[in-house]
Amino acid sequence: MAERIYNFSAGPAVLPVEVLEEARENLLSLGTTGIGIMEHSHRGKPYMAVHEEAEALCRELTGISSDYHVLFLQGGASLQFSMVPMNLLAAGATADYLVTGAWSQKAVAEACKCGNVHIACTSEDRNFCYIPKECTFSNRPAYVHFTSNNTIFGTEFAREPEVPHGVPLICDASSDIFSRPIAVAKYGLIYAGAQKNLGPSGVTLVIVRKDLVERGPKDLGTMLQYRTYADDHSLYNTPPTFGIYIMGLVFKWIRKQGGLEAMDQVNREKAGKLYQYLDGSRLFRPTADRDSRSQMNVTFVTGDTRSTRNSWRRRRRPGWTD
Ligand SMILES: Cc1ncc(COP(=O)(O)O)c(C=O)c1O
Repeated sequence: MAERIYNFSAGPAVLPVEVLEEARENLLSLGTTGIGIMEHSHRGKPYMAVHEEAEALCRELTGISSDYHVLFLQGGASLQFSMVPMNLLAAGATADYLVTGAWSQKAVAEACKCGNVHIACTSEDRNFCYIPKECTFSNRPAYVHFTSNNTIFGTEFAREPEVPHGVPLICDASSDIFSRPIAVAKYGLIYAGAQKNLGPSGVTLVIVRKDLVERGPKDLGTMLQYRTYADDHSLYNTPPTFGIYIMGLVFKWIRKQGGLEAMDQVNREKAGKLYQYLDGSRLFRPTADRDSRSQMNVTFVTGDTRSTRNSWRRRRRPGWTD
């Protein structure tokens, strides 16, 4: 096998070797079943145990109460850009969005197809290099949506934005979920594509308050309603079984490391080293304002536009493919 190298890709991202090794064992036979994890029926007992354990570990790591569903969906975080407004933005109501990067812009674009959208704040004026301190909310928004970590621009909310009392807070946590503790009770819904922090692509974790699911419309396509997944424990149809299995292994691994507090500590140390180096460098410059820096995605530039042009030229050399 080729030696594994350092992989700083934002996502799909590196997975713990321990997780990959355990998965390798179970590819050919899950335990002593004689059937590989990817070949098990999603209705059979061995897979059901995997599915239930993944949910239980997820609940344990973040202390999710019985007021919330833990759901495993497909379609990536991008499908949530549509499902959130389809399910939570009633006709005539307005949803408020905090626009802090490319992903929140995409979320806004989808919400605009469903109803009224109000931009409560944006950091577009300085190319999304900061997290705005102030928001101006609309009158009684249906919900407030924000992106906790802006993968591309390297900024992260230090804490949840303060929202008007009783308004559900919705979070795209795709690139920082489980990198630090989350106060789930402050949220109406949290979603994350798995491929950055939780497992392989193909499975999306949704943690949603039960009353919000109940309030959702019933005339949407079946697979577009949170209710469908909630009523059947994410087993209405064939779920992404392999992704859920790996997620469960990652949850187990996180628990073994000491849980989310320990993850936070390690991530702070790793990011701190990088920022310390960048702050002292004459070659590189971090792009995010100091008080908005992400622990997950440390973005920097050289300040020399020629280096970008040259790397582009290199990529276009004959024989190179994207
Ligand atoms: C914050 C954030 N939201 C959404 C997405 C889109 O996720 P997906 O590819 O799962 O649709 C990404 C990156 O891929 C992301 O970083």
